[in-house]
Amino acid sequence: MQTFKIHHIGYLVKKMEAAKQTFEALGYLPEQDTVYDPGRDVDICFLQKDGYRVELVSPVSEHSVVAGLLKKYKNCPYHICYEVEDYESASAALSAAGFLAIDTPAEAPAMGNRKVAFFSGPAIGMVEVLLP
Ligand code: NI
Repeated sequence: MQTFKIHHIGYLVKKMEAAKQTFEALGYLPEQDTVYDPGRDVDICFLQKDGYRVELVSPVSEHSVVAGLLKKYKNCPYHICYEVEDYESASAALSAAGFLAIDTPAEAPAMGNRKVAFFSGPAIGMVEVLLP
C-alpha cells in the first residue's frame, strides 16, 4: 500500500516578503532563505510551525506556471504535497482516485533538487507528490 505522508501545504502569495513577514508574526520560522525556481519562474520559501510546514509560492513574472492561478484564486493555500516512496505506485493510486497528471516529475531547486510532480482531481483539486 502506497503511503502519502504530508510534507507541506503550498500557499500561493502575491507578495513574498509581506507573506513571509505575516507568517513570522504568527510564529512561523523560515527554514531557509527564499529560493528562485527558474523552471517554474517562482520564488519559494518554506516555514514551519507546530510541526506543520508551509511553502510560500510567488510568481516572479507573468510567465510563471502559477501566475494564472494567483489571478484566479488570490492569496490562498492551493496544494498539499505528499512524500511518497515510489512514484509509479503513487501515480497509479492517484489515477485510481480520479486524479490526472498535470506534469511529469521535475527537480525542485527549493527542495534540494528532489523531484516533484503535480496531479489534479475533480473533488479536491491539486496535489503534489515528492519523490524519494
Ligand atoms: Ni509544494
